[in-house]
Amino acid sequence: MKRRTFTLGSAAAAGALLLAACGEGRSGGETAGGEEAGSGFEADATIGVSLPWLGTQNWAEAQAMFEEQLKSAGFTPLIQAADNKVPQQQQQIEAMVQQGAKAIVVGPIDGTQLGSALKAAKDAGVRIIGYDRLIENTDAVDGVVQFGSIRTGELQGQSLLDGLAERKGEGPYNIELFGGGPADPNAPNFFEGAMSVLQPKIDDGTLVVVSGQTDFQQVATQDWDNGKAQSRMDSLLAANYSDKPLDGVLSPNDGIARAIITSCKGAGQDIPVVDGLDAETESIKSIWAGEQYSTVHKPTKDLVAKTVEIITAFQKGEEAPATEESENNGVIDVPIYALDPIVVTEANAEEVFADDPDRLALLEG
Ligand code: BGC
Repeated sequence: MKRRTFTLGSAAAAGALLLAACGEGRSGGETAGGEEAGSGFEADATIGVSLPWLGTQNWAEAQAMFEEQLKSAGFTPLIQAADNKVPQQQQQIEAMVQQGAKAIVVGPIDGTQLGSALKAAKDAGVRIIGYDRLIENTDAVDGVVQFGSIRTGELQGQSLLDGLAERKGEGPYNIELFGGGPADPNAPNFFEGAMSVLQPKIDDGTLVVVSGQTDFQQVATQDWDNGKAQSRMDSLLAANYSDKPLDGVLSPNDGIARAIITSCKGAGQDIPVVDGLDAETESIKSIWAGEQYSTVHKPTKDLVAKTVEIITAFQKGEEAPATEESENNGVIDVPIYALDPIVVTEANAEEVFADDPDRLALLEG
């Protein structure tokens, strides 16, 4: 099992980003791939964007926002999504290199399966930026832009605890745990972050995982498939909850949160406290209707903007902004550009979405 090392928490990294944004802190710290500033490339160069799938709203938003933001920065976007199929993503990346892409942004389906496609890209002089997910077991990556994935999990775990105290009175509480797709490097990190908050409460008896399923491999949801999560919840309820209430469920994202709620409704259970991730339209509606308890918002617009900022630095032949945070990907310490995720509940939704007219409208409608 590879070792992941974080050299800085996301708050400190945010500080480093701020410094970089102010034009300071450009020397020192990690630079993308530790490479020297290169010679740059044409201002209207083709930039590839390889997305894993469009099955959750964040990826569909990324597709639209890369198109818009890369164009307005003067680049020629070449954006493809791979339908969760690794060979398809490998071929798409190879084709982007052949079509002359000067930088490729990659949200990997499986963090470990792109080594040879990315090596070929690197050998052709292409800059490679991981987007949202870590790229593993290769040195062919210049940096990863993401919302700290351990931090995201911590927020999910804490939000579950907060929701239980708010909605279910005194403990102990019966809970179940769900994880995301095991090939996605974010999924074990989300779970690890959440369990760092929940495990002490399991140990002291405040939380009871009635099924006993607490290992990531037991709780993971293959391919982030909502239908599979719903089936697992159906089975858990049938096997463990015919004579007791289920108070809360840890969910790795919004689609799975809604699948869990649907399953509980179908089984005649009261809706448990469920967290989520992505601030998807349907989950904001559900939170506003008092069903799903929370989500974690990671604004795609900001993540895309940070990525385009780094590409623009490469285009000019500059180094990428400094960041002091890195994660070992099994081969190298990859510079991580981590933005801060935000917990959203019914209580703060209007405030969080004040600058996001589309999401705000969901609260008014
Ligand atoms: C992303 C989540 C998304 C999930 C499934 C994760 O890597 O961080 O935003 O819900 O993939 O697409």
